[in-house]
Amino acid sequence: MSDLLTAAQMAATHAAAFTQSRPWSALEFAALLDSPLVFAAGNARCFALVRVIADEAELLTIATDPAHQRQGLARACMAAWESRARVRGAEEMFLEVAEDNAPAQALYRACGFAVCGRRAGYYRRQDADPADAILMRKSLR
Ligand SMILES: CC(C)(COP(=O)(O)OP(=O)(O)OC[C@H]1O[C@@H](n2cnc3c(N)ncnc32)[C@H](O)[C@@H]1OP(=O)(O)O)[C@@H](O)C(=O)NCCC(=O)NCCS
Repeated sequence: MSDLLTAAQMAATHAAAFTQSRPWSALEFAALLDSPLVFAAGNARCFALVRVIADEAELLTIATDPAHQRQGLARACMAAWESRARVRGAEEMFLEVAEDNAPAQALYRACGFAVCGRRAGYYRRQDADPADAILMRKSLR
């Protein structure tokens, strides 16, 4: 499977899953995957995109196709990228999630992440006020 095909699958799943924000294009995914610091875990039904810099891993995005949600795919994908981040030397994992995204916050708490900060007005919304970003962290030490 080529990176371009993978990027196209990611863009399709991302567009189906993210209804509140602008979906990322296949070209944007391909550009991110070009970096040796970035890797993808999962498959077309559920994937995560992760960047590891030195001992810190950052979840760039995660999405499950709405037709396959609540089947444990994201939980498995979180475990898969955690293992791969460890292999790359990560000792801490970080992510940002919108304050109004209860499903994702529940997923991250279930996977051992805890709140470590907040960015006011970080996510722009089309028909509503901006939403704060909740910063979450998990130690791998
Ligand atoms: C968040 C998202 C990735 C979860 O994917 P998923 O494959 O459905 O998640 P899982 O089935 O693995 O769920 C694992 C746990 O997360 C929590 N969870 C997931 N979806 C939930 C929901 N809609 N409501 C409440 N809790 C939820 C639950 O604790 C769940 O465990 P349980 O099913 O045993 O109760 C998916 O809803 C999605 O793609 N959302 C749109 C994109 C998005 O918001 N991405 C995150 C941006 S920060």
